[in-house]
Amino acid sequence: MSARKDSIALNPLFARPGEATEIPRFVLPPRESLPDTAYQIVHDEAMLDGNARLNLATFVGTWMDDYSARLYLETADKNLVDKDEYPQTAAIETRCWRMLADLWHAPEPAASIGTSTIGSSEACMLGGLALKRRWRHRRLAAGEPVDRPNIILSSAVQVCWEKFCNYFDVEPRYVPISSEHRVLDGHDIASYVDENTIGVVAILGVTYTGMYEPVKAIAAALDNVESRTGLDIPVHVDAASGGMVAPFLQPELEWDFRLERVSSINTSGHKYGLVSPGLGWVIWRSQDLLPEDLIFRVSYLGGDMPSLALNFSRPGSQVLVQYYQFLRLGFAGYRAVQAASRDVAMYLAGEIAALSPFELWNDGSDIPVFAWSLRHGYTENWNLYHLSDRLRMHGWQVPAYPMPPNLQDLTVQRIVVRNGLSRDLAESFLADFRSEVSYLESLSHPLPLEGQQPGFSH
Ligand SMILES: Cc1ncc(COP(=O)(O)O)c(C=O)c1O
Repeated sequence: MSARKDSIALNPLFARPGEATEIPRFVLPPRESLPDTAYQIVHDEAMLDGNARLNLATFVGTWMDDYSARLYLETADKNLVDKDEYPQTAAIETRCWRMLADLWHAPEPAASIGTSTIGSSEACMLGGLALKRRWRHRRLAAGEPVDRPNIILSSAVQVCWEKFCNYFDVEPRYVPISSEHRVLDGHDIASYVDENTIGVVAILGVTYTGMYEPVKAIAAALDNVESRTGLDIPVHVDAASGGMVAPFLQPELEWDFRLERVSSINTSGHKYGLVSPGLGWVIWRSQDLLPEDLIFRVSYLGGDMPSLALNFSRPGSQVLVQYYQFLRLGFAGYRAVQAASRDVAMYLAGEIAALSPFELWNDGSDIPVFAWSLRHGYTENWNLYHLSDRLRMHGWQVPAYPMPPNLQDLTVQRIVVRNGLSRDLAESFLADFRSEVSYLESLSHPLPLEGQQPGFSH
């Protein structure tokens, strides 16, 4: 009896209390568990999640090297907001955004201002709030009303901008994308803006398809508006993905602070910045573009601490891992990593385009993301939702979803190639893809349509 007891204490046998019995799920258990029992239960439940490496839907990093993982664990207890307790982490945060300001051609990176955030969503909220506050100050100074701010967005913006408009009472003015204007490109922008427009959002790497919006053309259209009407409308670039791709793969593309009209830019450290979630960055070209009254100064953590954030406490480890990645990879390393992803994306896009049912929306040459649709009238028997379900049986997550309003009758499927989707893994994916397409092609009757859920991942 005692030998059995010992072995049970030493090894999880899936036979002791908590393993052989059920643990309550929605009320706090009445008493403690052994740590290894509790660990095993949580570990096993987490195992039921999908395999993140096979998720071709998400933009968010799913692979870290061993040193990143080590740093992440070593520093998990640092609270980023506590800059008095962790001054070195705070200094490293500043170094990171200064590096980004330089990478994005801020005229004087030392005169820029930026911060890390939990992701691009928070970064976009802060960018939007600064636009709104500047507009408000200007209007109040001129004795004009401030009750009806609006912002100009592509109909294909990420949901964080809809949240910004909803949470902070700004009217969204969506410019619909269409087959002629596949992205917001400045066309007809004059008919959307007025004296209540706080800014225009340009997206570098549209979530639906991965395409870049031509920030330079948008800025030129707004220059035109200014010369005719006197309205000086700033641009915020939502470079959630492209901010960490374009500097390396399209260095000649002018989308950043080289364009004077660009006042702020955000990116996700946890997407092509190659850090695990959650980390974002937002940077303003110069300090005067971030109204001082958005910055809070707190003294209760010791010292005089500026706080510009929607959250307060947040882990510092992602910032330290971002710095590690900057040191580890440098410019050439980031270029190599992003080029490898782009090559895999363009290869996959070419192979999918070669199959007769499909036509590409784009080819993965902007960010390593591409989307395709079923050729019009190709078949009544199956659609991209069925293909998505079939791929899921192999573990691959490749969402199908409708395009935004105006194009919502068009269903696309999208692949996001991230660091970690090697050419070898891509070949395995293609083998499964081709065999599932052959299966669907062999059907002589239409598959039922019920149960299809549009899947869309940001
Ligand atoms: C263009 C764009 N903006 C904002 C976001 C939101 O980013 P996050 O998930 O970092 O909050 C995404 C996410 O995919 C995005 O693609």
